[in-house]
Amino acid sequence: MTAGSTDRTAHSLRLRWLNARNRVLASPAFQRFAMRNPLFRRTARFHANSMFAVITGFVQTKALTAAVDAGLIRRLADGPATTAELATVSGLALAAVQRLLGAARAIDLVELAEDDLWVLGQRGAALSSNQGALAMIEHHKIFYDDLADPIAMLKGGRGQGKLAAFWTYAPAAGQGQPAAADAASWQGGGDGMVAPYSALMAASQPMVAEQLLDAYPFGRHRCLMDVGGGHGAFLAAVAGRHPGLALKLFDLPAVVDGAKAKLAARGLGDVALHGGSFRDDPLPQGADVISLVRICHDHDDDVVRALLARAHAVLPPGGRLLIAEPMAGTAGAEVMGDAYFGLYLWAMGSGRPRTAADYRALLAQAGFAGAREVATALPMVTRLVVAER
Ligand SMILES: C[S@@+](CC[C@H](N)C(=O)[O-])C[C@H]1O[C@@H](n2cnc3c(N)ncnc32)[C@H](O)[C@@H]1O
Repeated sequence: MTAGSTDRTAHSLRLRWLNARNRVLASPAFQRFAMRNPLFRRTARFHANSMFAVITGFVQTKALTAAVDAGLIRRLADGPATTAELATVSGLALAAVQRLLGAARAIDLVELAEDDLWVLGQRGAALSSNQGALAMIEHHKIFYDDLADPIAMLKGGRGQGKLAAFWTYAPAAGQGQPAAADAASWQGGGDGMVAPYSALMAASQPMVAEQLLDAYPFGRHRCLMDVGGGHGAFLAAVAGRHPGLALKLFDLPAVVDGAKAKLAARGLGDVALHGGSFRDDPLPQGADVISLVRICHDHDDDVVRALLARAHAVLPPGGRLLIAEPMAGTAGAEVMGDAYFGLYLWAMGSGRPRTAADYRALLAQAGFAGAREVATALPMVTRLVVAER
């Protein structure tokens, strides 16, 4: 028997099992039986509830957005409030705010401390201090506009909607180069087009930086270059823990212009700033560790291959390259890597979620040795692949 025929046998066994399983699960008689049988009931209820959570997910998201936009989370972060006070804060009629509070309570954003006295729920309390999550809730409005008709979005091809206009560095639909608006903005030196996305990234960066600083010993290096480092939020977090490390920031010229004042205001005026495009320009020399934080998933394979090759060309032997982002195939966080980023990057117009194995293969092709994954505490927020030059 050849290896190929063994594979086919295994494949057809799995296929037969999946077909049989799905026939049973689709049977209304089995569903009724499972709900009534004490042995199966818990599992059946769990699956029914999680399916319903997916079906109603849109309503939960909208209730969350409304609770934030109506100012309920902000107001309750300052202390308890009555329904009438929350009606005044939100500008909603009493009946409307009551309905919204009921929805927000169901998803643990708010809870009643006592009769008609509202406080934040557990999720609401965690959200109220998380600027990154709040910025994402606001930002998602444009993504969800693009998703209003998901089949139309998929049929239309990548990058046809509002999200593509927000991420001005993503190639315009059907083009291999950044959108014209981006080229115009960064060649002109103004950061008008890039300020909103850089601010969004900076707001969500602390969640990511914390994971990476706990996972990787930056202190063993001499000089870190953060490529696509935005306004320097990650470098600022690294500097806080490793004051002796020399720092370089590489990003599009307009972004680097915006980073200058922000870094100076944080007392980090000595960060070396390099404006350029990693699509076209070589990277600067001098760093013994290069980080790509939430960069690669935004780009198609040809751009990532070229970028990894550019990083390889400027690292010294023994230097390290770090790829950090949420990845596809993350156990327990498949929704983040495969569903959320899969559709988000489609709407944005470039890139794809990749697995850690995809990155190990791309790194090997670029000449890096021994790429390995380093565990982070919250892989949903970011995973980390480290390779050696
Ligand atoms: C998703 S943001 C991530 C920013 C930051 N690393 C973080 O995690 O907050 C992508 C960054 O890559 C930069 N970028 C995109 N295309 C680039 C290019 N061709 N050359 C240099 N930087 C680029 C963007 O300006 C932006 O700052």
